[in-house]
Amino acid sequence: MAAIIDGKTVSLQIKEELKQKAADLRTQGTAVTLAVIQVGDNPASCVYVRNKKKGCEYIGIGSLSYELPEETTQDELLSLIRELNGRGDVNGILVQLPLPAHIDEDTVIKAIDPQKDVDGFHPQSVGALCIGQPGFVSCTPAGIIQLLKRSGISIEGKECVVLGRSNIVGKPMSLLLLRENATVTIAHSRTKNLKEVTSRADILIVAIGKPKMITREYVKEGAVVIDVGINRDENNKLCGDVDFEDVEPICSAITPVPGGVGPMTIAMLLNNCIESVRLQS
Ligand code: GUN
Repeated sequence: MAAIIDGKTVSLQIKEELKQKAADLRTQGTAVTLAVIQVGDNPASCVYVRNKKKGCEYIGIGSLSYELPEETTQDELLSLIRELNGRGDVNGILVQLPLPAHIDEDTVIKAIDPQKDVDGFHPQSVGALCIGQPGFVSCTPAGIIQLLKRSGISIEGKECVVLGRSNIVGKPMSLLLLRENATVTIAHSRTKNLKEVTSRADILIVAIGKPKMITREYVKEGAVVIDVGINRDENNKLCGDVDFEDVEPICSAITPVPGGVGPMTIAMLLNNCIESVRLQS
C-alpha cells in the first residue's frame, strides 16, 4: 500500500505561506502584479488562465488579464510584451501556451524581460538554472521538488529517472534533481530497454504524455512515482501517464491525478510572482 502524495494539501500550505508574504510586502508598500496574456480561446488554456488569476486573488496579489483574439499578429503580441516589460507596476508576465500556429513561441518567450519571466521559460532563466545561478524556475518541476521535500522524501543520492525531455518539464526537472544531488537519468520515447531503465529508479518522474502507459513492469518495488500527465481515458475521466491502480500496490508513494502535481504548478507560479520582487530589487 503506497502513501498518496497529496498535492492539494501541500499546494494549499504553500499558498497560505505566500498569502502572508504578500501581506508583508503590502505593509512595506510593495504591490505585486502578474500580467496574464492569452491568445485565442483554447478551452484548456481558458481553465488554466482562470485558475492562475484565481490563485493571484487568493494570495492577495494583483493580476492583469489580456485576452487577445486568435487572429492577433505576432507583432501585436510582441508590442504588448514590450509595453509590459517597461511597466514598473507589472512584476510578472505570463503568456499562456500553446499560441496559435502563426505565432512563433520561441520569439515570444525571448521577448519577455527575464526579470519578469515568472514561467521560467526564457533562455536566460533556463541557462541560469543550468549553471546554478539565481533565476526563475519552470513551475511544474519546481513544484515537484517541493512536493517531494514537503512529503518527507529525500532526494540526495537517489537514483532518479525522468521519463520525458520537454523544455517545460523533463529538462528542468532533471537539472533540479541534479541540484538536489540526485543521480539523474533522462529517458524518452526513443530510449532502448525503457522498462529496464525506469526500473532502476528510486524516484520515477513520468512526463511522457501517454495515458496510463506506466504499468508495474516499469517500476521498482518500493519506488516513489510522480505522475505529471493529465489525460482523458476511454471514459473521458482524467488520468495520468501512470496506470495508478496497477502501480500503486507496489510503490512506496505515488501522486494521484488529479490532485497530485497539478495543484503545485499554480502554487509555484505564485511563488515566482512573490520572488520576482526580490529578483527585481
Ligand atoms: N501551457 C501549459 N502549461 C503552461 C505553463 O506552465 N505556462 C504557460 N505559460 N503555458 C502553459
